[in-house]
Amino acid sequence: MLSVVLFWGLVALGQSRPTKDGDIKDVEFRMPNVQPQKPDTYLCVPMKMEEIAKYVVGFVPHANMSTAHHMLLYGCEEPGQTDKVWNCGEMSMKEKSSYTMAPVCQKGSAIIYAWAMDAPQLTLPKDVGFKVGGNSEIQWLVLQVHYKDVSNFVPPKSGSDHSGITMKVTETEQPKRAGVYLLGTDGRLDPHETVYMEAACKITEDFVMHPFAFRTHAHTHGQVNAGYRVREGQWTEVGRQTPKKPQMFYNTTDPDLTVREGDYLAARCTMTNDEDRTVYVGPTQNDEMCNFYIMYYVTGDKILRNNYCFSSGPPRWYWSNIGALNYQAAPKSASMLPGSDKLLVETMSHYDKYADPEYRELDSMDDQLLVDELLGRNGDFEDEDEEDEDEEGYGDEEEQDYDREYKTLLKLYEELNSL
Ligand SMILES: *[C@@H]1O[C@H](CO)[C@@H](O)[C@H](O)[C@H]1NC(C)=O
Ligand SMILES: *[C@@H]1O[C@H](CO)[C@@H](O)[C@H](O)[C@H]1NC(C)=O
Repeated sequence: MLSVVLFWGLVALGQSRPTKDGDIKDVEFRMPNVQPQKPDTYLCVPMKMEEIAKYVVGFVPHANMSTAHHMLLYGCEEPGQTDKVWNCGEMSMKEKSSYTMAPVCQKGSAIIYAWAMDAPQLTLPKDVGFKVGGNSEIQWLVLQVHYKDVSNFVPPKSGSDHSGITMKVTETEQPKRAGVYLLGTDGRLDPHETVYMEAACKITEDFVMHPFAFRTHAHTHGQVNAGYRVREGQWTEVGRQTPKKPQMFYNTTDPDLTVREGDYLAARCTMTNDEDRTVYVGPTQNDEMCNFYIMYYVTGDKILRNNYCFSSGPPRWYWSNIGALNYQAAPKSASMLPGSDKLLVETMSHYDKYADPEYRELDSMDDQLLVDELLGRNGDFEDEDEEDEDEEGYGDEEEQDYDREYKTLLKLYEELNSL
């Protein structure tokens, strides 16, 4: 029986031969001579994928070093807009722009390539491709360019820019398919505190994932983001980087590390808030974000169905909420900058204070978006809040916090689908 399975396995693999160079075509994806007028403008341009599936196996950046701060390539199910160029910056309501504003993606979003000056280049491993078009989730690609300095585009220079990417694309099915798994949190940073924002989910699909690159994302308070595989309570680093460096894809710590069904993926962002105000997770530069992206490949055509792992973050959710994580075994280096042995200690540990059984039950739902769970409760939410107050004597502050959290989770959920 086993030999039959193996035989078919080999046949199936044999059908998707590695690409011959002749099959690979260059597809240009550029900004159409844009003229951003304000510093820190983020512009997006869409490209529709075809009905026949293709594989992106390489990227060559053509960025205008003098003006482009970074470029990101997103796969979307639906783009923020379907024509021309739009402003897709991290939103700031006050901002006026000559371009219409829209999110990067309306639905289904994954970053598949990133470029920044001085950052290492991402090369996909051999025989690995991002499947686009056909029956894949990536029906559109969206190129985002961040123009930090716009002096070339305003008078007197009045120049324009066509930064972008040449994609190496083939119709030949690749033996290995790439995906991106995203961990993140909601939550808040109290004034003058160092806080751990943590997320973890169990992999419940029958795959062997090979993580090969990771990316961190945070705003100004982020010190270090670290990701781990937890197998039977043993922690192994996937990657660790400070978000103060260019937020590009970096090689994982161990290229041979694999993740399989029953393992957990976990991430921590260590944040320091030196301000006098409470900072919440949210989309603008005044808010904070904690994200850890894992780029992986699987052998064959199927990637994970669920590529998101979100928690409600501090002060409610910590690794300690999931017993199976054995959080005491988490490496101390999770909160150390790469190349440093200085531990960034959490100012006030909320682990015990917020060990409320209700949250535990909610938050330990493995491999589920907590956001979905909260959204699913919808109308009942306020009633429950009031009950809590009656039965457990929650003060006004907690109640507001709870309410606020529901709202930010909604916002976050929308942003996730658009980011
Ligand atoms: C880069 O910017 C300069 C100055 O605006 C312009 O002349 C040049 O064409 C740009 N290059 C690209 C690739 O857009
Ligand atoms: C990342 O890994 C690839 C493949 O192993 C290797 O070719 C490349 O040099 C590495 N990049 C860096 C910056 O270490």
